[in-house]
This record gives sequence, structure tokens and C-alpha cells, in this order.
Amino acid sequence: MLLLVTGGCGFIGTNFIRLALGRDRETTVVNLDKVTYAGNPANLADAETRFGPGRYTFVHGDICDAALVRDVIGSRPFDAVVHFAAESHVDRSISDATPFVMTNVLGTQTLLDAARQAKTPRYVQVSTDEVYGSLGPEGAFSESTPLAPNSPYSASKAAADLLVRAAHETYGMDVVVTRCSNNYGPYQFPEKLIPLMIRRALRDEPLPVYGDGMQVRDWIHVEDHCRGILLALEKGRPGGVYNFGGGAERPNIAVVKSLLAALGKPESLIRHVQDRPGHDRRYAMNCTLASAELGYSPQWSFEQGLADTVRWYLEHEDWIASVESGAYRDFMRAWYGERL
Ligand code: NAD
Ligand code: TYD
Repeated sequence: MLLLVTGGCGFIGTNFIRLALGRDRETTVVNLDKVTYAGNPANLADAETRFGPGRYTFVHGDICDAALVRDVIGSRPFDAVVHFAAESHVDRSISDATPFVMTNVLGTQTLLDAARQAKTPRYVQVSTDEVYGSLGPEGAFSESTPLAPNSPYSASKAAADLLVRAAHETYGMDVVVTRCSNNYGPYQFPEKLIPLMIRRALRDEPLPVYGDGMQVRDWIHVEDHCRGILLALEKGRPGGVYNFGGGAERPNIAVVKSLLAALGKPESLIRHVQDRPGHDRRYAMNCTLASAELGYSPQWSFEQGLADTVRWYLEHEDWIASVESGAYRDFMRAWYGERL
């Protein structure tokens, strides 16, 4: 299978490419990535030696650049596009929504147009549970839960999902949308909760927990998410939407305390800080459809996954240092400066 992957220099894209190339020798990947502050081509620097010559190609470019995207998609007979590229951090979207609208909305339409013109047989949109909004203490999101996004990030992802739906309904494109809960694991950029807390705890810096810390996320190991995307790519119904979750609902404060325990650091590092505006209280996923139609089930328990992730970050402190650009430091100073 010849895949065009977008955003493969980011967290989930990197893990997906490594899984897809490692799984069989028949898969070849072209990775189109703009290399924003969150993208790191070095994540796949070993691809040529590890997976064999010619199986991985990196193209540096922006999915909003229609001519470039047309050239890339037209350059080889791709079997599918798997679209990860996005601005992905809720807090950044609160500070400045414009890059989110550009990449997540316009970029998705640009890709859809090019895939349609090239007659690419399949298009997979990697989306998020955040498009459904927030839950009360009971229940879980299903694929028929109405979209009710609350942050500029989730609103831009919901807009993209609707453009993908429209491409299917209007032009008959063979599309699949996957919606997944919060991922964790190797190569996650240290702005998201788990790697941020590991990084700060290792330096004995205070850990900023928003509000009371009782917001609940359903944590999924990135490898389980990537397995789900491969299943959707291979078995998903044209026009289908599939939820993926890890079956591991935890309040943020419990996650932070587990990390401190794993790192042997004191709970006195925790600081309850001003809450995120519009903060979704709870996410939970009903994955019955993915289980029935795709045979999906998560393999990692949260406890094993978290221990494995902590180990990875301890062994890759140089990786954390290498991805902390000036833009990263500027955002951290502006966002947390007033909170901590
Ligand atoms: P990330 O921020 O780690 O990586 C995003 C990647 O996209 C980076 O490599 C970046 O350089 C690239 N990119 C950004 N703008 C681009 C553009 N205009 N053109 C080309 N490349 C561009 O994100 P992630 O956490 O790996 O998320 C990947 C996808 O999965 C996103 O679509 C996100 O919405 C979705 N998702 C993420 C999670 C999660 O928990 N992280 C959960 C569900 C869904
Ligand atoms: P995050 O990793 O940003 O993912 P998302 O907002 O997409 O769910 O945040 C996960 C949870 O952790 C969310 O409820 C916000 C909370 N959080 C904090 O309490 N402090 C922080 O510094 C960050 C980054 C997140």
C-alpha cells in the first residue's frame, strides 16, 4: 500500500508511520509536513535504515499550498491519504485561532480537492472526540452524538469533519473519519498534559493543574489509536465515522499524581492555577461501532502505558530538549507566566 500521510513529523503521525512501516514490507509512506513548532523530522531520521530503502520519503510543505499538494498527490499512485496534519493544542487556539482555521479547515479542503482530482481511492480524516463537546458525569459519546465543539481547536476540527462528510455526500469520495480520545506515549510534544508534567517534574518545576483538576479524559496509548486508524483505513465503511478510546477515564489530578509517583517526585509540586476558559469537563467514548465493524479493542492498560511512557521520556531527555524551540518557550512564558 502506498500512503500519503500528512503531519507525520508530529506525535501521532510519527507513531503511525513507524507502526505502518514496521508491520509489513508492502507499505510505503510519503510524509507531507510543514514542520511547525510541533513537527520534528528527526523522529523518522532512522526510517531508511530501519525499514529499508525507498519505503519512506519526507516532503517539506504546507497542506494549504494547493499547487504543492496537487503536485505531491499527483506524483505517485497513492492508495490512500491519511490526514493527521493540524494545529492541535487547545490552549494555543485560545490565544490565536487563525492558524487553526487555516490548517485545520482550509488545509483539509485543499487536501480533499487534490485527492478528488487525483482519484485517490481512499481518504482518512484523523479527528477527535473534542468535536462532541463536553459530557456530564454519566454517559459517553457515540458517533451519532451531535457535534458541539467548545474551543477554537475543536470547532476547527468539527468544521473539517463536515467538509469531509460533504466530499462524500457531494462527490462520492471514499472517506472515513476517526474520532479519538486523548493520546499519550512516545514523541508527544511537551505542551500536552502528560509530557508537560513529566518535563516539569524532572526539573522540579511547579505543575500547573487547571482549576480543581477534576476534569476527566479517556486516555489512550498512541499505539492503540494508530492500530485503530489502520483498521479504519483497511476495513472502514465509505463515509463511516468511528470512535476510538482507551477505556481509561481518569481525572487530571489523578494522572498528575500517578506521574509524580512514577518519577519519585513530591505532590507539593502541584499548583492549582486559573482554569482554561471554556474547559470541557468530561470526555468518554463509546467504541462499540469500531469494535463491531473493525474488530478494534485497545491493547494497553493505562497503568502499563503510563509506565512505558515515563520510561521513554526518561530515556529521551535529549529529545525533549531538541524540540523546545524559541516559539515553544515564548508560548510557555506567555501562557503560564500569568498563571504560575
Ligand atoms: P501534533 O501537533 O503533535 O503534530 C501536528 C503535525 O502537523 C506537526 O508535525 C506539524 O508540523 C504538522 N502541521 C501543522 N500544520 C501543518 C500544515 N499547514 N501543513 C503540513 N503540516 C502541518 O499533533 P498530534 O497530537 O500528532 O495530532 C495529530 C492529529 O490527530 C491531529 O489532526 C489532531 O487533531 C488529531 N488528534 C489528536 C489527539 C491527541 O490526543 N493528540 C487526539 C485525537 C485526535
Ligand atoms: P491537553 O493535553 O491540552 O489535551 P486536551 O485539552 O485536548 O484534552 O489537556 C488535557 C487535560 O489536562 C485538559 O483537561 C486540560 C488539562 N491541563 C492542565 O490541567 N494543565 C496543563 O498545563 C495542561 C496543558 C492541560
